[in-house]
Amino acid sequence: MSEIKALCVALTIHSITMGWKQVMIGKRVLIFLTGAIVSTIALYGSGFSQGRTNNPLTSNGYQPHLGDLMTTMQIRHDKLWLAGKFGNWPLAAYEIDLMLENFQDIALLYPGVPVADMATLSKPTKAIGDAIAEKSVAKFTQAFAMLTAACNACHQSIGRGYIVIQTPTASKFGNQVFPPK
Ligand code: HEC
Repeated sequence: MSEIKALCVALTIHSITMGWKQVMIGKRVLIFLTGAIVSTIALYGSGFSQGRTNNPLTSNGYQPHLGDLMTTMQIRHDKLWLAGKFGNWPLAAYEIDLMLENFQDIALLYPGVPVADMATLSKPTKAIGDAIAEKSVAKFTQAFAMLTAACNACHQSIGRGYIVIQTPTASKFGNQVFPPK
């Protein structure tokens, strides 16, 4: 395999040093050049991914990156807030449900995320559930602050204290209606 890599590198260097003028001489040269470059990239690409033990992008299926699942969490946190703030209880219930599913996925896909920190979410999510059932904005606001504190507690415990979540200050979703219709 390393001989093939070396050959491809040599071919690429040779092709490049041939200069663009000659490349334009005929289609065949261009195809050859492109082929050499593409195969070099492909070989190097596969070499890099082989070296990684935890590459989540495998041919067996797509596994989202933890950071992406967390970005989804950030969106849910935002939408949940807006729904509760406007007393849109069915939407709030829907968002908390999706948020819990999101956390389940994280627990399943990333067992390295501390279970103890995951467990800190159960109290605030239950309190949010109760506030939704009682249709109480005041209780919801209190429970939401607990939830946000749990987000930050985990970030701190895993050495990412610089990711600080707060109660949203404004809606980022101009394309969605939050007050109940
Ligand atoms: C059990 C631990 C844990 C909890 C609870 C947790 N997070 Fe995270 N969060 C992480 C980890 C780990 C990362 C770093 C992911 C990475 O770098 O791959 C992270 C990263 C993030 C990021 C950065 C992603 C980015 O692209 O900027 C955001 C935003 C985030 N979390 C939001 C939240 C929100 C909102 C909550 C609460 C609703 C929450 N997290 C709760 C563990 C947690």
